Amino acid sequence: MEMRGLRDDVYRRPLATALDRLGIGPGWTCVDVGAGAGDVSVALAEIVGRDGRVYAVDSDPEARDEVAKAAAAHSQVLAITQAGEDLRLPEPVDLAFCRFLLLHVVDPAVVLARMAASVRPGGWVVAQEPITSAGRINGQPFSMPDALHPDIGAMLPALARQAGLFIVDTWAEAPAGAGPGPVADYLTLLTEVDPGDDPVVLPPLVTVVAQVRAD
Ligand SMILES: C[S@@+](CC[C@H](N)C(=O)[O-])C[C@H]1O[C@@H](n2cnc3c(N)ncnc32)[C@H](O)[C@@H]1O
Repeated sequence: MEMRGLRDDVYRRPLATALDRLGIGPGWTCVDVGAGAGDVSVALAEIVGRDGRVYAVDSDPEARDEVAKAAAAHSQVLAITQAGEDLRLPEPVDLAFCRFLLLHVVDPAVVLARMAASVRPGGWVVAQEPITSAGRINGQPFSMPDALHPDIGAMLPALARQAGLFIVDTWAEAPAGAGPGPVADYLTLLTEVDPGDDPVVLPPLVTVVAQVRAD
């Protein structure tokens, strides 16, 4: 699946694979929780088209301006300032999505439960979260002292089950590289450290593709 806005996003492959599993297409309604600058929201908007809708939710009010800028040409993207713990949308959605969010929230189970509750019966929850310490820079483990749950990815399938979700697929995937290229650029952006020619394995992203099944 080609997603123009994510062509340079090193984690685009797990996103494309997850979205392929869903059969997402024109007219879908989605929420991107912890949308940040809105890269994924815009990619979703390109897929759902003018008849669809993407709620880009973030607790940081500055993110709303960033999303508005990124999504200027996509009237179907609605940026909302809201915490994932308080997630409330005007309508049930077909897909609730998050990436690199749960590692930063106080109680990931609460946010995942709110995401599940925002989806229509038969709809989807996709979460993509890292196992930070499984990444390597020149063989040494990554650390992310600012994150509350840097290895939350390792718990993600269990959290999804506890949220009452039916897991359709789950896997881990890590971009890797050595020398100049998108992986080194991403690392420098993240850590302000240039790895030079050292080999880098970025933190694996655990994806859960899950469904809200009607009983
Ligand atoms: C690392 S960024 C991820 C951005 C985007 N999802 C991506 O994959 O490119 C994490 C975002 O989550 C937001 N965030 C942190 N805690 C949140 C919460 N409790 N509810 C909603 N958003 C939150 C932050 O403001 C930030 O924009």
